[in-house]
Amino acid sequence: MQVRSPLVWQPHFERMPPLTGYVMDRSAPVVSIEDLKPDIGDAAVTLHVCVTCRAGEEGEDIVRPGRRLHDALVEALRREDGPRDFRIVEVECLSNCNRGCSAALTGPGRWSYIYGDLNESSVDDLLTGAARYAATADGLVPWRERPMIFRKGVIARVPPSATPV
Ligand code: FES
Repeated sequence: MQVRSPLVWQPHFERMPPLTGYVMDRSAPVVSIEDLKPDIGDAAVTLHVCVTCRAGEEGEDIVRPGRRLHDALVEALRREDGPRDFRIVEVECLSNCNRGCSAALTGPGRWSYIYGDLNESSVDDLLTGAARYAATADGLVPWRERPMIFRKGVIARVPPSATPV
């Protein structure tokens, strides 16, 4: 018996029920790339934080857990003295909705990482991990120096962009 993918015979993918109870958040307003400019500093290394993550919380009147995590990170970074070697930029959906809250670390010439299962208690570890990431040339922080949330919550890593020859 031939098994057909539901994507083949369903007339529209949108009509399929979510497989996990969560789907990519499509309710967020459309924001132009100009509105996504960094809100802290002008450093090259960026900690992107998804502000639309619900992390299982429902309701339209709530401040989303992703937004709460972002704001807590920005506030904690503001309280730190000294130069900042990375910036925090909010983003709407990193396609990791099933394991939100979500964040991503990127930087020129560096491997990029996406992390999940984050919450407001992750703030200190996220800032520590981001600072260690920023201190590398390639984004590869030694395993033992990575905060536990980076070890357990890593979703994916992406190699640096190839340099044109
Ligand atoms: S809403 Fe999709 S990763 Fe946060």
